[in-house]
Amino acid sequence: MNERVHVALPGGAYDVEIGPGLLAKSGSFVAPLLHRPRVVVISDENVAALHLETLRAGLASEGISMEALCLPPGEGTKCWAELTRCVEWLLDQQVERGDVVVAFGGGVIGDLVGFAASVLRRGVRFVQIPTSLLAQVDSSVGGKTGINTHHGKNLVGAFHQPSLVLADTAVLGTLEPRDFLAGYGEVVKYGLLGDAAFFDWLEQKGPALADGNGAVRVEAVRRSVQMKADIVVRDETEQGERALLNLGHTFGHALEAATGYSNRLLHGEGVAIGCAMAFELSSRIGLCSQEAPSRVRAHLRTMGMKVDLADIEGDLPDADALLGLMGQDKKVVEGQLRFILARDIGEAFVTGDVSKTDVLAVLKDALAQR
Ligand code: GLY
Repeated sequence: MNERVHVALPGGAYDVEIGPGLLAKSGSFVAPLLHRPRVVVISDENVAALHLETLRAGLASEGISMEALCLPPGEGTKCWAELTRCVEWLLDQQVERGDVVVAFGGGVIGDLVGFAASVLRRGVRFVQIPTSLLAQVDSSVGGKTGINTHHGKNLVGAFHQPSLVLADTAVLGTLEPRDFLAGYGEVVKYGLLGDAAFFDWLEQKGPALADGNGAVRVEAVRRSVQMKADIVVRDETEQGERALLNLGHTFGHALEAATGYSNRLLHGEGVAIGCAMAFELSSRIGLCSQEAPSRVRAHLRTMGMKVDLADIEGDLPDADALLGLMGQDKKVVEGQLRFILARDIGEAFVTGDVSKTDVLAVLKDALAQR
């Protein structure tokens, strides 16, 4: 039996199905959405090599045929050129308004293909089949889609909700440990931003989760998705509360930009370091005790994750340049940076009331420890 989280959006509710073996059963979940027994799937080469035939068989068991396009793996694929390629390929496949596009991969594929679906024929429905932990707990749910430009991450996109999300947790067993742990950065984020009991649970269960305990993985994904669904239903287009989901992202996006969106720093690694820095900043300006950032960092260390700027290989720009990179963040409002800070673990809030001097001090100290 799989778990189900219902995302009760008035403009289009959908389910997130979570559990092992969902690829093999995909046909039974997708069939009710279809007007004709055919889907088009866009994936990446790594995911396709491991799982595309399982998906094909799962769909075929319900008489659904599938055509697939496989793109290069990596953040570089979330770009204008690959968006064009997706849209033209979908048109080549004669996808109609009533058809369903499937995004089969990690966050890059989900964001890119969701955006392609949002603009194709002014919007066709799409199904997310996330294969990374990061995509299962965060990016596949909530309808944010888009691409990166040379100005920064996710600066071009659309809100376009999926019609269904199938999170097959058995697939997580094929991830490289580094990729799995990067996704864990987003899991920890949920505990840190709004659920101290979940963070306590992660402190206890994190090692079992990393070791591959299936039941713990399902529960971690379910609790993360439930929390995200609750927030998205209250604030679909990020007018307020949804910004909490960006805990760690203001620092993280600047670090990703500074490392050229390369393998030097994966997105989830940037989020984990960013969460530690957000708690450090919160503590320094007297919002929370010093114990809170220490506990965050201790847990990330226990999990074998990147925690500090010292964990990023190679050169980094100076503190002023990193602050400049934050200026491109989507959370900038009227030129004012907004941060997600915290009064304690599980008590995050959004604020524009942070002095650049305090941010610079945190960045300078972090750089000095490299
Ligand atoms: N990943 C943050 C959000 O979906 O709002």
